[in-house]
Amino acid sequence: MEIIIRKDADSAAYLVAKLTAKAIKAKPALTLGLATGRTMEIVYDKIVEMHKAGKIDFSKASSFNLDEYIGLEPTDENSYRAYMNKFLFDRVNIDKSKTNVPLGMAKDVQAECKRYEDAINASGGIDFQLLGIGMNGHIGFNEPMSSFSSLTSAKLLNEATIKVNEKLFPNPEMMPRRAITMGVKTILNTKRAVLLATGESKAEIIAQAVEGPMRASCTASALQMHPDCIIVLDEAAAKNLKMRDYYDFIFNSSDEWAEFR
Ligand code: F6R
Repeated sequence: MEIIIRKDADSAAYLVAKLTAKAIKAKPALTLGLATGRTMEIVYDKIVEMHKAGKIDFSKASSFNLDEYIGLEPTDENSYRAYMNKFLFDRVNIDKSKTNVPLGMAKDVQAECKRYEDAINASGGIDFQLLGIGMNGHIGFNEPMSSFSSLTSAKLLNEATIKVNEKLFPNPEMMPRRAITMGVKTILNTKRAVLLATGESKAEIIAQAVEGPMRASCTASALQMHPDCIIVLDEAAAKNLKMRDYYDFIFNSSDEWAEFR
């Protein structure tokens, strides 16, 4: 795990956008893993700006999103497919037929989970995965107690997630209580994972995920086992980290990060 701390949410998001651009430049046919959520909106804005400036070309890239609500049509404005169209796919030159989001309206949910996991594997695996973190430590919708060996599956959302996300629906009752999500193992199988967390509300859960023991009750802590995981934070989200000086020392002294300092 590498921990990179930037002064504010804007510069943290910019660093994530630059990492994404660099990955696509190095491998134009990149398989991207994508996240939704409020934290990511600013990252996608920055990626779109870079695309307009000719710095990111998505023409050969493909993507898999982490999750989707069960029971929402892709055309529903609250679906994650609609979110992705709005914040990224409609604004860059990605071939939409190569973008994948789990089908929340699938009749056979188990079969859809298997189809999705198989499609990720058939693509050769996810090269570069973007992640956010929930207030309960979830990555994707891997709620507390999700197994670290889980593959794409259907999850019942827990109270903390419902409380935060129902505010985004016109009426809280409209928020589905179930979702399809890549599993913890699916995420651990990605070649590089980049998690972005910003704001003071994430400080406590970030400290637990990064420096606490690995435990299924905070599924983001499984990222400690990921072979190439970068955690990008703003000052506010990094506030409770105990080894802060060491993380800064690594970032400021390693050649790999010279171009991002
Ligand atoms: C979204 C996802 C979630 C979010 C997390 C943080 O696809 O997988 O894990 O990344 O809930 O959401 P925000 O950014 O809204 O705090």
